[in-house]
Amino acid sequence: MVTGGAGFIGGNFIRHILAKKEFTGRIINIDALTYAGNPLSLRDVEEAYGTKRYIFRRIDIRDRSAIDRVMEEYEVDCIVHFAAESHVDRSIYGPGDFVTTNINGTFTLLESARAHWEGKEGKLFHHVSTDEVYGSLGETGSFFEDTPYDPKSPYSASKAASDHLVRAWNHTYGLPVTLSNCSNNYGPYQFPEKLIPLMISNALDGKALPIYGTGENIRDWLYVVDHAEAIWCIITRGQSGASYNIGGENEWKNIELVKRLCALLARATKRSEDDFLKLITFVKDRPGHDQRYAINCDKIKKELVWKQSVDFTQGLELTIRWYLDNQAWVEEVRSGEYARWIEKNYGSR
Ligand code: NAD
Ligand code: TYD
Repeated sequence: MVTGGAGFIGGNFIRHILAKKEFTGRIINIDALTYAGNPLSLRDVEEAYGTKRYIFRRIDIRDRSAIDRVMEEYEVDCIVHFAAESHVDRSIYGPGDFVTTNINGTFTLLESARAHWEGKEGKLFHHVSTDEVYGSLGETGSFFEDTPYDPKSPYSASKAASDHLVRAWNHTYGLPVTLSNCSNNYGPYQFPEKLIPLMISNALDGKALPIYGTGENIRDWLYVVDHAEAIWCIITRGQSGASYNIGGENEWKNIELVKRLCALLARATKRSEDDFLKLITFVKDRPGHDQRYAINCDKIKKELVWKQSVDFTQGLELTIRWYLDNQAWVEEVRSGEYARWIEKNYGSR
């Protein structure tokens, strides 16, 4: 069972796993289809694998009886849990759904897994989390698996809470779990409210490229398929009860990243770089904006022999090409609710 598979990373994970020769199972995708979930993103998967190997069910992870029914009907042996409210800016405007989905939803899944898997072998609950639970770094240092949690935003606080629940269910009830904490992802099918797809789609439309504050904040970026592969390594070879940090080892200041995107967009569209650079606009900063995230991912590299396979230029070029070729998808997700969000977040800055 994959939760949140109609979203950005869950959808990429499903596509990646089903294409693997060594995976012969089937995937039940459980997703409530919030504004961030789009079943269109998996139309190719539905066409390729049909209902034998890929099944979609519109279910809210907070709905215990619906989750129980799926656990029974499909005899689920592994849960890969992506479903979450995932956007920091939205968590600042409306933290309620972050608390109920990210914390109560995870609790509901853990309880259902515990009830259905008690006394059985060969089960695994994998929890997908973020580097943001570790807080914010200064100019030096990086996050390790044992770095104390210090979340700063409603989003990261709710993810931290869910991580603690998962570890407690392992420690107290013996539920077999693994966890991963990953840095910022980018790639195809990312909802255009996050930095990279927002900048690409605004640039193509000739709209402002809004940089929060001075653009000095630093993030570590990983191509989404490399994240999917890391999760595959963990669920197939990871140690029960363990956490693994996943990262790109690829830190960028936001302003430098957006300038790089402008250069690559110019190359891809055969337009002048200045056409895009002149759209850069500095806007009011995000409240409580974390300064820097940096992940040390030596553990997964050494123990599970995982490594990044796509460098940043290659990944950004693939991403730009995907957005250029999939304007219809972008238009679809930018319908009503998205337009209201853009007005709310950027209207008053
Ligand atoms: P996303 O917002 O693109 O997708 C989330 C999906 O969860 C959507 O399809 C949505 O419909 C679904 N969902 C939300 N609430 C639900 C509910 N109550 N019941 C069922 N489904 C629900 O998010 P994403 O970027 O794909 O992130 C997936 C996971 O990875 C999250 O747990 C996030 O914290 C984590 N993560 C994300 C990043 C990143 O850079 N995007 C980095 C590290 C970790
Ligand atoms: P985002 O993609 O929202 O991811 P996160 O906050 O989880 O790291 O933002 C990435 C960085 O880009 C973050 O430092 C905030 C910044 N940012 C902007 O400068 N402008 C924008 O319009 C957005 C959405 C983000």
